[in-house]
Amino acid sequence: MKDLIIKNMSFKVGQTMTIVGVAKPDASNFAFNIGPSEEEITMHINPRFNAHGDENTIVCNSYQGGSWCEEQRECCFPFQQGEEFKIVIEFTPSEFVVTLSDGSAIHFPNRMGAEKYQFISFDGDARIRSFEIK
Ligand code: GAL
Repeated sequence: MKDLIIKNMSFKVGQTMTIVGVAKPDASNFAFNIGPSEEEITMHINPRFNAHGDENTIVCNSYQGGSWCEEQRECCFPFQQGEEFKIVIEFTPSEFVVTLSDGSAIHFPNRMGAEKYQFISFDGDARIRSFEIK
């Protein structure tokens, strides 16, 4: 069960999605998913404080045809339990660029190649303060 689901959204190439949230004081991990439907995720962003055997690592991946694809692990981790974070997401037909609170950027391939995605979900140990697409 996801904590937050937005369907029939329109997030297009050229637009910017900004998410501000606060990680829970005892957060183990949380995730944002963007895709064409609930069953298909083109961009999964999963900051792990302590989860699935990882410590302070961001794992990105996509989920297609009922399984997870190849993971990409980031070296930066500008998240702290109990603290506010900001995630800014933009994309082109070839890649997603995710800018984090400290200005560091994650590049992840737009594996589904679409110019518009309709679905976003959020799950895990954080509270969303604001969510905006401009
Ligand atoms: C799995 C985890 C999923 C997702 C995936 C990413 O181990 O259960 O929630 O994060 O890794 O590859």
